Amino acid sequence: MSDKSEKNVEMENIVSLAKRRGFIYPGSDVYGGLSGTWDYGPLGVTLKRNIMQLWWKMFVDDREDMYGVDAAILMNQKVWQASGHVDTFVDPLTEDTINHRRFRTDHILKDNGVDPDGLSMEQMDGAIIEKGIKSPDGNPLSPSRTFNMMFTTHVGATFDENSVSYLRPETAQGIFTNYKNVVDNFYPDLPFGIAQQGKAFRNEISPRDFIFRSREFEQMEIEYFVDPSKWEESFEALLGNVHEFLDALGLPADKVHELEVTDTDRAHYSKRTIDIEYDFPIGKEELLGLAYRTDFDLMNIQNNAGKGMEYTIKGTNTKFVPHVIEPSFGVERAVMAVLAAAYTEDEVNGEKRIVMKFPEHLAPVKYCVSPLLKNKPELVAKAREVYQILKKKHGNVLWDDNGNIGKRYRRQDEIGTPHCVVIDFETLEDNAVTIRDRDTTEQTRVSIESLK
Ligand code: GAP
Repeated sequence: MSDKSEKNVEMENIVSLAKRRGFIYPGSDVYGGLSGTWDYGPLGVTLKRNIMQLWWKMFVDDREDMYGVDAAILMNQKVWQASGHVDTFVDPLTEDTINHRRFRTDHILKDNGVDPDGLSMEQMDGAIIEKGIKSPDGNPLSPSRTFNMMFTTHVGATFDENSVSYLRPETAQGIFTNYKNVVDNFYPDLPFGIAQQGKAFRNEISPRDFIFRSREFEQMEIEYFVDPSKWEESFEALLGNVHEFLDALGLPADKVHELEVTDTDRAHYSKRTIDIEYDFPIGKEELLGLAYRTDFDLMNIQNNAGKGMEYTIKGTNTKFVPHVIEPSFGVERAVMAVLAAAYTEDEVNGEKRIVMKFPEHLAPVKYCVSPLLKNKPELVAKAREVYQILKKKHGNVLWDDNGNIGKRYRRQDEIGTPHCVVIDFETLEDNAVTIRDRDTTEQTRVSIESLK
């Protein structure tokens, strides 16, 4: 089997498990779907929340220099004019000249073995002509044009240019617009950060690769405000914090890579960007970005809204507009990396199994409790007692009395439950239960008292 098809098989297996076991479903599936949208099922929503809560704990709750906000998704259109998104938040689009299907030009090049990084739109079109690249349907491609990725909507009952608004394409702007509020309310010392988690929307030309490139997704972003003369030390410190978080997600360090983004590929607002890439089953792709945004955004607000964005160093007359370092995480990409890192196929007693080896703190279900036999009322009653004890303590505890014990273990392995607790006839004698470990499949006997 070639490397590429092995990767495809692994991705297909993960997508299939995600649907079969209630992690992630295609959006609007009953109506034939809506491309680029995904719904989280009961296990997926818990996994996603565990990731988001871990991030909030590590980047906000555990630190003294971070403040959280939760800004509105709809913002005044001036925000997106000033930020440059109205003019420059675009992707190159090319069209099949026969059936009019549309594609991202850089994706077409990549799929045909040409690296589009650093190429202008004209250079990409040149490469298409030079290499004789056709659309995936074998037809000639049109010259590229730019396509703005923001979803437009109207606010209120009037549909004119003044009522235009956008579904936010990044959470960052909701932080910048609240920078002054936080400074005035909390008087933080520099450097300090404002963090936000929430939905972002991009009308991607070709959403693909499961949740990796979606049209609706979540971001976890920090704008970290610094003295311009000290931006480098904060950049390095945040880079270290990013790696600590990825480690806590259980991502193997040898699959995490830093890419220094070149001048031509950096976003319009950035003076330095490091993309953190991950070896996903679809290949090495961007997981998150760390950007030095300078004073681009605060100066835009100052110039366009006419409000002073200067920060005064306490006890002095020294004033300046702070510069910003931005770690920007995509939740869906974190979920996809965690799923891929956890997905394992191995053999137990000569039988193949699929096991999701989530770190325990991320596993959507921590314990599964079962009576050995479901038709023995005394076992069921004892098992219920144990279930209540664990449920009270851990919350995410499952009851499972379907099928034989082997099948229950397989099911729990597939959803990554670290511990399966079984109540058998001996329990009625010794008040102890069997706990089976997901990864080693080892079984140990522990007293019910100790579970409390
Ligand atoms: N505020 C900066 C910003 O939004 P970005 O590189 O455009 O920067 C940040 O996006 C992160 O958001 C990406 O690294 C990725 O994790 C996630 N992301 C971006 N577009 C996405 C999409 N279409 N689907 C899923 N995640 C996406």
